[in-house]
Amino acid sequence: MDNRSIGVFDSGVGGLTVLKELKKKLPHEDYIYIGDTASFPYGSKSKDTIIELSKKRIENLIDMNAKIIVIACGTATSQALKEMQKIFNIPIIGIINPTVDYLKKGNKKRIGVIATAGTIRSNGWKNNIDKMIDNAIVINKACPLLAPMAEEGWTENEIARLTIHEYLKDMASENLEALILGCTHYPLFKKMIENELGKNVEIINTGEMVAKELEEYLLQNNIENDKKNQTKVDIFLTDTECNFLNVAKKLLENENIDIKKL
Ligand code: DGL
Repeated sequence: MDNRSIGVFDSGVGGLTVLKELKKKLPHEDYIYIGDTASFPYGSKSKDTIIELSKKRIENLIDMNAKIIVIACGTATSQALKEMQKIFNIPIIGIINPTVDYLKKGNKKRIGVIATAGTIRSNGWKNNIDKMIDNAIVINKACPLLAPMAEEGWTENEIARLTIHEYLKDMASENLEALILGCTHYPLFKKMIENELGKNVEIINTGEMVAKELEEYLLQNNIENDKKNQTKVDIFLTDTECNFLNVAKKLLENENIDIKKL
């Protein structure tokens, strides 16, 4: 047993879609969440910068006594996970492997990936899918406007609908079996994306896959939290002049959210 918190970070509100799934699956754990709002967006930055930022955020979480780190960000997972696992002596989970595992089990072959420009450029998803799933066909699409729109809370309006249509209109005719929401901001647009692609395409929210992987890891290593009471979530932002609280309240269904400056 280990009653320390699970450390989670992303560039902003996106990682809360992962945190939400972690809390659902592991309700007795405590969490520390860092939204690196001062450095948002991650998606347009170079690999070197993402490595530097990820290192700082993981150091922050280790200083706060986290027992394990979840990189709740597709951009940081695809560009920095391997380096972070080399540098740090703490277990670190990203969003790609658990998701590709799930697709492999479901025998999915025609797979779409939408993500930030940095993630698509890194080929992080495609390389992993090609390694793990024989004869897979991967169709990639960078959607750089979606994360800033999610930060703004523009996830259900006409601008969101038109933007999603513009990004996904070519994918609609690709006979996809699954579409990975390869950026953790994108589950906020899930309904609109479903409307655009139709019911035959399984829309993959990576947070659900990460939650399963994390649960297994905690059990196998006997480091679950043995408290049976209410979980605690501490949220830190690197800059508080942003719309984070409004989006967070909606996403985490108005639970008491207390945000501190890191
Ligand atoms: N939510 C992040 C991701 O999964 C980062 C988006 C951004 O900051 O551009 O890629």
